[in-house]
Amino acid sequence: MDEKRIKVLLIEDSVFDTKLIKDLCRESCSNQFELDQRENLSEAFKALKEKNFDLILLDLTLPEAEGLETLAKVNGRYPRIPIIVLTRTDDETLALKSVSMGAQDYLIKGQVDGVILKRSIRYGIERKQMEEELRKHRENLEELVAARTVELIESNKQLMQEISKRNSAENSLQAAFNQLKEARAQLIQAEKMEIVGRLASGIAHEVKNPLAIILQGMEYLARKIPSQQEDLATTFKFMAEAVNRADNIVKGMLDFSGVSLVERQSQEIIPIVEKSLVLMKHSFDLNHIEVIRDFKDNLPQVNVDKNKIEQVFLNLFENAVQAMAKGGKLKVRIWAEKVSENDEWVGKRKEDVFHPGEEIIKMEIEDTGTGIPENLLDKVFDPFFTTKRSIGGTGLGLSIVRSIMEMHQGKIKIINKQGGSGVQVVIWFKTEPRGG
Ligand SMILES: Nc1ncnc2c1ncn2[C@@H]1O[C@H](COP(=O)(O)OP(=O)(O)OP(=O)(O)O)[C@@H](O)[C@H]1O
Ligand SMILES: [Mg+2]
Repeated sequence: MDEKRIKVLLIEDSVFDTKLIKDLCRESCSNQFELDQRENLSEAFKALKEKNFDLILLDLTLPEAEGLETLAKVNGRYPRIPIIVLTRTDDETLALKSVSMGAQDYLIKGQVDGVILKRSIRYGIERKQMEEELRKHRENLEELVAARTVELIESNKQLMQEISKRNSAENSLQAAFNQLKEARAQLIQAEKMEIVGRLASGIAHEVKNPLAIILQGMEYLARKIPSQQEDLATTFKFMAEAVNRADNIVKGMLDFSGVSLVERQSQEIIPIVEKSLVLMKHSFDLNHIEVIRDFKDNLPQVNVDKNKIEQVFLNLFENAVQAMAKGGKLKVRIWAEKVSENDEWVGKRKEDVFHPGEEIIKMEIEDTGTGIPENLLDKVFDPFFTTKRSIGGTGLGLSIVRSIMEMHQGKIKIINKQGGSGVQVVIWFKTEPRGG
């Protein structure tokens, strides 16, 4: 058998039509085609199993199935073999439908000659081959795309992992950097305070005695002034006030430098706060300030110098009053709580002042005053920093407060209140063991 001959299977039940097609084949191209014929579909399927046909000529009016159903059956089983449909009628719609369902071409019996048949068979095979190549190409492409997609998903996953690793590394680096920055600021502050402290106590000692002599001298001279010399008396009064003011600064500097004696005793914190509030009562009333207390019961004791801690509260209340010139509210909260390891000022190292699980007394003092401009917040504890020089502020109040808190291993910070004007002072005290 010639391998190059095209193997055609004719599925046709009519003896007449079969003869017609065979004759056409013989007359135009017998050396190119090898034509087999079967009468029905089951016979045709058997033949298709046994032999590899290049093309099927399919009659659409077989007894087992009608019209397009026949085409669907054959095409369904052998989708790779091109099919040319044979119809008896000149039914354009049926012909077009069969092409849209997968037939390569259609021929109308009685209108076909050898040349048309030959051309239709050749084109049908070529088109099918092209379709097949296209299909394979598309399948190939789809496979490639699928493989590439898997690769991309994988590398995307890796990238996400990298990004999250890098983010967490960046976060820990940032945290370490912040810690370093804070430690550095604390060191600078501590050093600054030490220098200022030493300087202050030196100056204070030198200035205190001459001031005392001046005051004594002025008191002596004031007694000598004749009663009619009022202008002299007034001048002496102003001078005495100025000297007293200078003396106050000196006293403040000595307190700040921690030179004066600290006498610590185990005691309740609330009576100290209450006493400071009583001392300030006149000032609160004068400035229309309402005091709101929120003190919890059953607090542990603190080991403090009562007078010095009183000085802390007086300075803080004084500042609050000055910030609320038009009246306002002063809220004082005191409670005890156990600190957790994530709290500010808490660390696990020996040298840390507060340790996780330790019971402390916390205080919050809030006012409804002017607040502190953000750019000045880190300066308020500096000695001599004041925005109230014109009304006699020395700027020593908060530096004394901090110095006293440090003497007691306590902590203090000042922040602007969130959502509303005014400041919030946060204080932590170490406590005595309960029942001890
Ligand atoms: N409650 C507050 N509200 C607004 N600003 C405050 C408050 N407390 C402190 N400040 C600001 O901090 C500055 C420093 O306070 P600090 O108590 O050290 O000094 P002072 O009050 O100015 O003077 P002194 O206390 O020596 O009389 C103040 O001048 C003020 O600007
Ligand atoms: Mg003050």
